[in-house]
Amino acid sequence: EPVLAEIAGGSALDIGFAVAPERLDEPEYREIVDKHASLVVAENVMKWEATEAADDEWDFAEGDRLAEYARSTGKKLYGHTLVWHSQLPAWVKALDEDAMQEAMEHHVRTQAEHFRGQVFAWDVVNEAVDEDGSRRSDSPFQQTLGDDYIADAFEVAHEADPDAQLCYNDYDIEGVNAKSDGVYALVEDLLARDVPIDCLGIQGHLTAGKLPDDLQENIQRFVDLGLTVRITELDIRVETPASDEALAQQAEDYASVATACLAVEGCLGLTVWGVTDRYSWIPMWFEGFGDALLWDADYEPKPAFDALVEAV
Ligand code: XIL
Repeated sequence: EPVLAEIAGGSALDIGFAVAPERLDEPEYREIVDKHASLVVAENVMKWEATEAADDEWDFAEGDRLAEYARSTGKKLYGHTLVWHSQLPAWVKALDEDAMQEAMEHHVRTQAEHFRGQVFAWDVVNEAVDEDGSRRSDSPFQQTLGDDYIADAFEVAHEADPDAQLCYNDYDIEGVNAKSDGVYALVEDLLARDVPIDCLGIQGHLTAGKLPDDLQENIQRFVDLGLTVRITELDIRVETPASDEALAQQAEDYASVATACLAVEGCLGLTVWGVTDRYSWIPMWFEGFGDALLWDADYEPKPAFDALVEAV
């Protein structure tokens, strides 16, 4: 069986998987990550609700476990995520402006300092832009702190870990569209103000047969701005039960995403959002869809795996 990370490594492309650390105790799961990943990211355990569920009470146990796994297996550890409106504890949402500013800065500082020297890049701010390109209106940070919270989060992260690459991460920005235009304007403004931002994460939660045809062009314009780019949360869902045609389309689409990234110098990696269809988040969040990953529910590699190996 070909080794994804090894083959992609020849093209200087990181291959990542979103990992639930407790699943690493499952031999089949662990074997895949051991073998095919050059990068790992926590699917959930480094989110605010997991690390600081109550004000200034910290739990890094599961994050540390993943960091130790990455260290002992020689894989890069990507940090996800510091400031996000979702999976955010209720106590944060209830704060007034001064207290929320303080809590946000304290969260970013404490967590980035904790993982300094282990996490090489952080999703500092996740999903801050709405579909129309404006600032996301249902974010407590946006509502209570206003536009400046994004720059502030990057500044504090940089102070806490000057060597980490600092990224903005979002979904539905794969192609050139109103939302990615909004993200473009956002990061352009941050760069113009010398805010320490290094990278863009394009999540890549996609549907088979519905890829935008300007993925490469879109990645290129962010690289031209001076950022590096990664596909950070790739999964390509199909209607379930999946037909052979759908799985063939999915395979083609995985290859297209890899090809677009490889075509742009400055697109540095591709992370798949999970290991096996058995545990993917898709069926729970997108009714009628699933089977979005590279290994099926029985840990059999899918056509998408072969296509990705071929493409990288
Ligand atoms: C998802 C996880 O996969 C699920 O387990 C969890 O219940 C919800 O969050 N964008 C992100 C990721 O940035 O953190 C999300 O992960 C998927 C969408």
